[in-house]
Parts: sequence; C-alpha cells; structure tokens
Amino acid sequence: MQTSEILRESWATRVGFIFAAVGSAVGLGNVWRFPFQVGQEGGAAFLFIYLGFILVIGFPAMLVEFVIGRNTKLNPVGALQEFGGGAWGYVGWIFIVIGFVLLAFYSVVAGWTLRYFVGSFTGAYMENPAAYFTQISVGWDAVFFHAVFMLVTISIVAIGIQRGIERAATVIVPAIFIILLSLAVYAFFLDGAADAYTYYLTPDLSEITANWQSVLPAAAGQALFTLSLGMGVMITYASYIGEDRNLGEDGTAIVAFDVIIAFIAGLVVFPIIFTAGVSPADPGPGAIFVSLADAFAGVPLGWLLGAIFFGTFFLAALTSAISIIEVIVTYAIDEHDVDRTVATVTIGTLIFLLGVPTAFDEVIFGMYDQLAAEVLLVLGTLLIMILVGWIAAPRAKAELTKGIEKPGPFIDIWIWLVRVPVILVLIVSLYLALIGFADFLQNELVPWIAE
Ligand code: PHE
Repeated sequence: MQTSEILRESWATRVGFIFAAVGSAVGLGNVWRFPFQVGQEGGAAFLFIYLGFILVIGFPAMLVEFVIGRNTKLNPVGALQEFGGGAWGYVGWIFIVIGFVLLAFYSVVAGWTLRYFVGSFTGAYMENPAAYFTQISVGWDAVFFHAVFMLVTISIVAIGIQRGIERAATVIVPAIFIILLSLAVYAFFLDGAADAYTYYLTPDLSEITANWQSVLPAAAGQALFTLSLGMGVMITYASYIGEDRNLGEDGTAIVAFDVIIAFIAGLVVFPIIFTAGVSPADPGPGAIFVSLADAFAGVPLGWLLGAIFFGTFFLAALTSAISIIEVIVTYAIDEHDVDRTVATVTIGTLIFLLGVPTAFDEVIFGMYDQLAAEVLLVLGTLLIMILVGWIAAPRAKAELTKGIEKPGPFIDIWIWLVRVPVILVLIVSLYLALIGFADFLQNELVPWIAE
C-alpha cells in the first residue's frame, strides 16, 4: 500500500500527463498496425470509417476512462470495483487478461523494430528487403529480440517510471512527428505518390458496402488500439492527475496527436509501397518494414535514416509497452501488496513466454492480434461504457465537470453519446468481430493445426 501512496503523486509538469498518455497512444499502432489495417481493409474506405470511430467512439471512451481513473485514484480493478460496486471488479480482471495477450505479440513486433535498428548499421536489410523480413520475423531470431524488448521494458518498469515515462515521451513524440513528416515529404516525390494518395484518400464506397462486416470491427478495434483504450491504461494514467485538469481539453490534445501521427504514417508508407510495385491490398504485418527498408536502401545515408527511424519506432513501442505492463503491475502492487520488482519480473516473464508462439507462426500471431484488438479491447470498452453511461452516470458527469470552466451542454452530449451510439456501435462491432474470429479459427487455425 505504501508504494501506491508514493505513486499517487501527480505528474511532474502540467503537460506531463498529456505526454505520458500520448506516449502510450503513439506506438506501433500508429506506424505499423494502422497502415497495415488500411491496406487489408480497402484503403481510404477504412481510413474514413476509422476517423469517424475515433471521433464518435474513441474520444468519448477516452473521457470515460479518465473520469473513472481520476475519480477513484485506483488501479483499474480497484477502480471499477469502487466505481461500479460488487462484481465490477471482475470486469477489471478482463483488462489484466487483455494486457497479457496484447503485450505478448506487441513485444514481438517491437523486437522486429529493434532488429531493424541493429540491421541499419550493418546494412543487412538493404540487399533484399522482402527476404530479410521473412528471415528475421519468424523463429529464434524473433524470439531473441522479443526477449530483449521485454527485458528493457521490465527494467524500466521495475525501477518505477512515472517521471521516466513522462520525460521519455516528451522527447519521443516530437521526434516521431518530425521524422515521419520528413519521410512524408520524401515520399511525396516518389513515382507512386499520386496513385498512393488516390488509394489512401479517395474512399471507394463499394469497398465499404461489400466488406462492411470486416471493415467495421477492424476500424473500431484499430480506433481503440491506437488510443490505448479498453484495457485500463487511461484509467491508470488518469489516476495520477489533479481535479483542476480539463479532461475535455487533454483528451482532445491526445487524440489529435495520435491521429495526426497515424495519418502521416500512411502518407509515408503508401507512396513507398506503390513505388515499389507491392500490392497494397494485402500488405500483411511485414509491409511497413519491407517498404521502409526499400526506401532506405535507395537514398544516400539510408542506413543512418534507417537507424534513426527504427530507433524511434522502438522507443515509441517502448512507451506503449510500459503503459500496458504498468496496468498489471499497478494492480499487483495496489491490490496484493507485491513488491514492484517482483511483480514486474514475474509478469514480464509470463508475457514473454506467452509471446513466444507468435514469433513462430504468422497464424498464431494473427490470432493474438485479432483477439486482443478486435474482440477484447472492444469488450473491455463496451463494459465500462455501460458502467459509466447507465450505472454510475451522475458520478461520472460530476467528475468530468471538474476542471471545465464553462461545460455548457458538453457533459450531457458526452453522456448521451456514451449511452446510445457508442454502446450500439460497440455491440455491433463485437458481434461482427466474434463472427470474424470464429471464421479465422475455423479457416486458418484448424487447417494449420491439421498440418
Ligand atoms: N496505443 C498503442 C499503440 O498504438 C498500443 C496500446 C494498446 C497500448 C492498448 C496500450 C493499450 O501502439
């Protein structure tokens, strides 16, 4: 308990909370998962639904997590128990499970970024980018870098990180922004740029009507994934802020940062993919690595650019991974009085082991990704929307009002958004995601096991 007392201090600077939350939000979800989902789900059609979901679901849901966190000043399990009473603590448990599954495969991808960072100095990926990815993304190579990534994450979190995360994010977020923007300018001059922009920015409505069953849950899942919602990260981070903060303003800043960075990542990746003649339609998880490696191979001082780029990716992944494991660690410390180091090492080791199978096969990898992002995050979000919208609305409204000078109708609009449209969209997405996941298990996993 004493540990949690110490942790219950506020963030160091006024904008510290925003930077930490942005550090969690901005990660592989923006630069890796986003472009690969856009490609898989039909280009601009996906982009526009995703942007809509960010506004209609993501923003209100983020405020919901903020309100629960700041009001209770507790870890997600304790927070839900206190906010909803009775069995709601068990819902918090879902967050813990999500954290395990999510970080298990996230760390494998983060390991790839580390591998590419090292590879930049040796020029390893320049010669044959596609073959290189296949070689390092699966097998013991991937396990090794997954282990290194978890080790770094564990070390930072074990030391205790509030100030650390804040400081790291203050540097990393602007760095990512500047690097991506420069690459977007570079990509603008490529031959494939015009076609890429059409693909990325001109929605083809027939793509939506034909594939809405997969586009909808994918876009909802990505909106939550990229904003770190649905597993208690924002509850945890908001448990460290003061009542004078205007949560509406903070939420707007965080969402805006995150969306802009993802959007620019698309402006980088698609021109490169189109120029390289790779089909954007099913880019797969490797596309971004292959296409960037391709780009770096073709420019002077490409190795240096590559090192800076993949190094920044790695750091972005790190601040997100820290936020995921921190949810579980805070829970262990708060509720079970476990020592921080013991908790972090144990939890981190379990996550590492859970991730090992994803480093051996793309099907298992896809299963974790889909389960975590499309099913579990949506489920987690749906449940806390019900809690705030229908069970503890007066308390939530009072909490959000604090720190907002002239709330006007904002609070009521928010609660009604949560109550009806957000919940409806999440129910439909969850339903479709479950069907999609069952399909996936049947069509990919079962044949894979039979092999
Ligand atoms: N938002 C992070 C990213 O975009 C991933 C994440 C999801 C982190 C959920 C925490 C919780 O990379």
